[in-house]
Amino acid sequence: MRTQVAIIGGGPAGLLLSHLLHLWGIDSVVLESRDREYVEHRQRAGMLEQGTTDVLRESGVGERLDREGLVHHGLELRFGGAGHRVPLTDLTGRTVTVYAQTEIVKDLVARRLADGGDVRFEAEVVSLDASAPAVTFRSGGRTHTLDCDYIAGCDGFHGVSRPAVPGLRTFSRDYPFAWLGILADVPPSTEELIYANHDRGFALHSLRSPHVSRLYLQVSPDEDLAAWSDARIWDELAARFATDDGWKLHDGPITDRSVTPMRSFVAEPMRHDRLFLAGDAAHIVPPTGAKGLNLAVSDVIILARALAERYASGSRTLLDGYSDACLRRVWRAEHFSYWMTTLLHVDPHATDFERRLQRSHLDYVASSDAAKASLAENYAGLPIF
Ligand code: FAD
Ligand code: DHB
Repeated sequence: MRTQVAIIGGGPAGLLLSHLLHLWGIDSVVLESRDREYVEHRQRAGMLEQGTTDVLRESGVGERLDREGLVHHGLELRFGGAGHRVPLTDLTGRTVTVYAQTEIVKDLVARRLADGGDVRFEAEVVSLDASAPAVTFRSGGRTHTLDCDYIAGCDGFHGVSRPAVPGLRTFSRDYPFAWLGILADVPPSTEELIYANHDRGFALHSLRSPHVSRLYLQVSPDEDLAAWSDARIWDELAARFATDDGWKLHDGPITDRSVTPMRSFVAEPMRHDRLFLAGDAAHIVPPTGAKGLNLAVSDVIILARALAERYASGSRTLLDGYSDACLRRVWRAEHFSYWMTTLLHVDPHATDFERRLQRSHLDYVASSDAAKASLAENYAGLPIF
């Protein structure tokens, strides 16, 4: 079995790469270890930068995004019992869009299959050779080999690609908290996202549709989900979002819940020979800055363009610059995600001095146009090229 580009992982990175390569006339096979139902329903990201929505739209998979995506022009920082708006569009000229990762994955799977693409679910890659490029995978109880020109490692943080890069340098930071995320059948209590800092911990109010809310609570990293009844979750959210003017959080049936650890991680370089890492396979950010999916998309745009140049002209210049081009953007997003996380969460180990500094930092961001502009520029997303 042979293809031009073997793609390991059918998350947003792998599926979008396969779609973009197809538009450039380049063949690929996507190998995804889980089943279709699982990847289409795994609740994760929701906030898309304009660069992400632009590429989905321009590559012809933006039809449902345009119909159902919720365009946002600002966000709220809430602390000390009051809200402070950051007018993203006024400050940057750009918008952000709420459209769930599950929906992007559904759109991309449907489009790849409609275009005759080769996307294999329940196909787990067990080994790969980055020099005589090939991947070995298990599917239907048998072992297969897929020969190729290039391998794209889009298999997320726990995949097989990153360990196949020798001499990798890694950088990481673990945080002393996690997020408990819920999906609830209740109209959002807000039009714009609310990022709240409270002595009890961070909380985020996001949304999925006019009828479905998505909310997150800072919890401890070893939190037992079973200890959180629906009533306890809603009470805690209400306490952390409370304002002096009596703002009200609406509650409703919770349809999904999970706990996610928070981590910063970067692996350098993002390439070994003919293997290219993209997305969570190469880097992780804590979700506070809403950057993970957007970074996966920008890696893939850079990789698709580099492969297209290689096949069209024989030039390896863009492929050789791939890792550096991605890492510049990755480190900016790493810093912003760390910054937003530190600004908004309660560090259980912080000294009183550090807590006062954090409050001063929040006051500064809320009151300074320059600080808001910096937050907005990073949140709405910096240019890809
Ligand atoms: P993944 O989505 O992890 O996909 C990798 C795929 O590879 C998986 O389907 C996996 O099954 C498959 N795989 C693994 N190993 C193998 C193997 N050996 N063989 C074959 N297949 C394999 N990002 C944002 O931009 N905005 C947000 O608002 C945001 N919010 C988030 C909220 C939460 C709670 C979480 C957890 C994440 C959030 N993120 C957000 C991050 C975002 O979800 C990830 O960065 C994104 O999923 C990365 O996509 P990916 O394709 O690189 O990796
Ligand atoms: C969502 C997740 C985030 O991490 C974030 O910063 C904003 C929104 C969401 O799931 O909607």
